[in-house]
Amino acid sequence: MRVEPLTCAIGAELIGVNLSHAVRDDELFAEIKSALFTHKVLFLRDQSLSRADHVGFARRFGELEDHPVLGSVPDHPGLVRIYKTPEHPPDRYENAWHSDATWREIPQFGAVLHCLECPTVGGDTMWTNMALAYQNLPQHIKTQIADLRARHSIEASFGAVMPLEKRLALKAQFPDAEHPVVRTHPETGEQILYVNGFTTHFTNFHTPARVRYGQDGNPGAADLLRYLISQAYIPEYQVRWRWTPRCVAIWDNSATQHYAVMDYPPTHRKMERAGIIGTRPF
Ligand code: SIN
Repeated sequence: MRVEPLTCAIGAELIGVNLSHAVRDDELFAEIKSALFTHKVLFLRDQSLSRADHVGFARRFGELEDHPVLGSVPDHPGLVRIYKTPEHPPDRYENAWHSDATWREIPQFGAVLHCLECPTVGGDTMWTNMALAYQNLPQHIKTQIADLRARHSIEASFGAVMPLEKRLALKAQFPDAEHPVVRTHPETGEQILYVNGFTTHFTNFHTPARVRYGQDGNPGAADLLRYLISQAYIPEYQVRWRWTPRCVAIWDNSATQHYAVMDYPPTHRKMERAGIIGTRPF
């Protein structure tokens, strides 16, 4: 296996690997896992990956889960359909920086995304390194956010386009989750800036030191959150991947965010994603 870094910050292409072999080959799987923790997102071209092997490979990292809004491939629970075709016209945007399912109490550890069909140009996906984003924050910001916690909401994201009753039912099933603003990576020990497009507000901002007058709390807290969320937009932390059919991306959701560039309609794009359950952020 050859590992070719794609930027100075994040992402590497794996050359000479057949991912379906990694379903059963412990040594190969261990090499891929180690490369994932180093580079945070891995890419492989020209794979012949059956749905069973896609699920089988992803399950080596942990149990898979479905998505309450996106829906899964029939007969393959855990394989979420991200289809933009005439039969599945785009009904919502994807172009928001996020880490998958942080609206869950236990967000996803990572994901394996397989490209079945894509436009010849357009439909790229971008990833950003949130460990580097934390590392490069000014020290006074690191001090300010050290003990902060924040709310993450499916209601305010996927639910926001739904009629009221449907949105409230979704919220009842998936109440907002609360996570630390800076989390520790469960495997590498890195400190990670952990706010994204699903984050709505800080839950413990109001201390006498932080809030002397109303303006410190509002808009003060919202301004700080917006600043932290905007760190994901910095190009020096990013990689951008151009898909071809049969490409696979594997990413670490604890340490990254991603953004699917939706510049391709009316062209089609068909992806399947295995989302791997993680651990409670601390
Ligand atoms: C996602 O997991 O947000 C989808 C990424 C993509 O379709 O490129």
